[in-house]
Order: sequence, then C-alpha cells, then structure tokens
Amino acid sequence: MKSLNISTKIGVYTYKELDQSEKKLIDAAKAAALHAYAPYSRFHVGSAVLLANEAIVSGNNQENAAYPSGLCAERTALFYANARYPEEAVVALAVAAYTDGDFTEEPVPPCGACRQVILEAQNRYKQPVCILLYGKKSVYRIEKISDLLPLSFDAASMGSE
Ligand code: THU
Repeated sequence: MKSLNISTKIGVYTYKELDQSEKKLIDAAKAAALHAYAPYSRFHVGSAVLLANEAIVSGNNQENAAYPSGLCAERTALFYANARYPEEAVVALAVAAYTDGDFTEEPVPPCGACRQVILEAQNRYKQPVCILLYGKKSVYRIEKISDLLPLSFDAASMGSE
C-alpha cells in the first residue's frame, strides 16, 4: 500500500507579534463581531477581508429562526467583498469571535462550507488567501486556504481547468 501524507503548517503568534496590517485586519474582524446578529447561538463572529486594492471589507454572522437560513461571518464578508469589488483579488481573511462577554481565548477556525468558499476566491484570483484566526491567547496564521482544505473539490476536479 502507498499512502499520501498531508501536513499543514500553522504559524502560532501572539497579537503583539503581528505586523501592522495584520493587526488592522484582526481589529476589523473584532469590531465586526460586536455587530453580529446571533440571538440564537450568542456566538458573535466577525470576519474581515483584505483586498488587493487595500480595501478592508468586514462582515459577521447573521442568524435566522430557521437556523439553516443564517450565514457565517466569513461568507457574509467574502460575498460582500466579491460583490462590491469583483476585480480585486482576496489577499487575506481574519476571523474573531465574541461570546459570554469576551473574545475567545483560542482561535476560531472557519467551518467547512466557509473553507470551500474561501478556496473558490483563492482559485478565482489565482492568489493565496492568507488566513488569520484570532484568539486572546494566540493567533493562528495559515499561508493559504488550501492548507486548511486539503484534497479539496474544485473546478479542476471536474476536469474543466
Ligand atoms: N459561525 C461563523 O460565523 N463562523 C465560523 O467560523 C463558525 C461558526 C457562526 C455560525 C452561527 O451563527 C454561530 O457561529 C454558531 O455556530
């Protein structure tokens, strides 16, 4: 038997160690979390997207009484960024979450559906999307979304690329 081994490199930083542009993106994600509409889970998530033109577009989770009709922060931010600036590549995306009166100690990883949507942006603009996951204790930095979604399904899987 042969095997394929997949490894993921995740940089672990403190907020202080990040550079100014990374701090700015995380701060935007934290600010967006405070305006989330999350009356059901009370888990307030914010996301901020940095575009090639240096614009930052943020979003947050939008819940619904019919639970599946809601949307995660990452997709809210990313879909709006792509709708508003369709020509601008997505450079980086930050995530932060606020619950029980404070931001989480640990970084909050994006759900599978959000990873798939971020991957589409990476493929669409042919540029790595760097992911910054904020936690009070540590910040995870992942160089490209494909590192969080190995063996992914994309256009190439259908033989159309
Ligand atoms: N949520 C996000 O917005 N992003 C994530 O990465 C994880 C989960 C939202 C969905 C739902 O509104 C709440 O957090 C609890 O799952």
